[in-house]
Amino acid sequence: MSKSHEKVEKNVGLMAVLIAVVVSFGGLAEIVPLMNQAEAIEPLPGVKPYPALQLAGRDVYIREGCYNCHSQMVRTLRFETERYGHYSLAGESVYDRPFQWGSKRTGPDLARVGGRYSDDWHRVHLINPRDVVPESNMPGFPYLADAPVDGVQVTRSMKALKALGDPYTQAEIDSAAKDVEGKTELDAVVAYLQALGKNAPRGG
Ligand code: HEC
Repeated sequence: MSKSHEKVEKNVGLMAVLIAVVVSFGGLAEIVPLMNQAEAIEPLPGVKPYPALQLAGRDVYIREGCYNCHSQMVRTLRFETERYGHYSLAGESVYDRPFQWGSKRTGPDLARVGGRYSDDWHRVHLINPRDVVPESNMPGFPYLADAPVDGVQVTRSMKALKALGDPYTQAEIDSAAKDVEGKTELDAVVAYLQALGKNAPRGG
């Protein structure tokens, strides 16, 4: 046995450190490529950071806990793509922080709901779902119609997202408060819902 090998074998502390080094190489070999992969996810064509009103709507969606009953992820299964449309791709959600994919489906998946109904349908449905879907057990959110969108808050959200790397322009941030002026939280959620899935690939 060589001298240095003997040293390692007879010194438990040294051996532990060396084992840790060897194991961490294995870990790095697995983790580092994944980190690069996450960086490499490109937005699909047309996918841009949310405009002010939609961003405000997304915040309301999260605040109201819509995700407790709705996923936003079409799975790669035939019965899913036939019902909802093309399965979800990571490149659609690059500007979703936090993403809303989820798996809880008390109600239908919403990833492709944009354009499926009119704005008016959504308004009536969100105020009292039973007015358009009699058997619905979704709660009503009538108070959203009376709540103005907070322009200061939207501007702050956009600045925070920009700091995280979302490519908002200064002009978009400057006009955010004006863009949501006079709008209600109901307007904002409807704008958000109508944009969902708009940049998904066509077809199943
Ligand atoms: C307690 C569960 C629950 C919550 C919370 C909930 N929903 Fe629903 N949602 C449902 C159910 C059940 C349906 C199916 C019946 C219907 O259309 O009303 C539905 C249907 C919908 C639809 C129609 C989807 C389609 O493809 O027909 C939309 C849009 C929607 N919800 C949006 C929202 C939004 C926005 C919120 C939050 C403000 C929300 N929901 C909160 C249960 C819920």
